[in-house]
Amino acid sequence: MDKTPSPAMPAPAISASTATPAAPHDPAAPLKTLLIVYHSMTGGTQQMAEAACRGASQEPGVHVRLLHASQAGAADMLAADGVMFATPENLAAMSGQLKDFFDRSYYGVLDRANGRPYACMVCAGSDGTQAARQVARIATGWRLKAVAEPLIVCTHAQTQAAILAAKQIDAADLTRCEALGRALAAGLAMGVF
Ligand SMILES: Cc1cc2nc3c(=O)[nH]c(=O)nc-3n(C[C@H](O)[C@H](O)[C@H](O)COP(=O)(O)O)c2cc1C
Repeated sequence: MDKTPSPAMPAPAISASTATPAAPHDPAAPLKTLLIVYHSMTGGTQQMAEAACRGASQEPGVHVRLLHASQAGAADMLAADGVMFATPENLAAMSGQLKDFFDRSYYGVLDRANGRPYACMVCAGSDGTQAARQVARIATGWRLKAVAEPLIVCTHAQTQAAILAAKQIDAADLTRCEALGRALAAGLAMGVF
């Protein structure tokens, strides 16, 4: 598993979860690659992406790559069998750095990743639907296949101080992110998408 720490906030170590063990990987089956691309300003989305990475990493037949949006590009998309996008909602939009990833990658990926599965996670103060809608529009342009509803976590940050403060996503929400990552990876490993 590759992990590229966020330039804004160093990524904590990712440890294996103690949840139900996955079936052992059949060595004859090809390893699938799941790419998780994220950006985070105050740490919430980063924790969500790391939780998804933990969940996905429980699938033995899947190689998980967790990349900050600034480190990811078209080649990473093309090398992946499936992808998870994770972004804060800022100003009723996905974050600028995730948008920059799409802007840099869009034409390098267009018509070369048709049908690949994806899921999206949004960390928002109170909404999150606008960022999810934008990601879905771009994913539709790439002809990716949505395999889950967007997972939105609201931090309820409303004041200027709360919005700018470092976030701590609660355990229940991280469990949801972990489950989504694991489900995406399991579907890839089984070839059901
Ligand atoms: C400039 C700015 C604009 C924001 N706009 C929105 C918004 O439109 N909708 C919303 O629900 N939250 C909004 N928020 C709140 C963030 O989504 C929230 O703080 C979230 O936890 C950020 O994720 P992060 O911790 O990964 O950076 C905004 C935050 C900032 C800094």
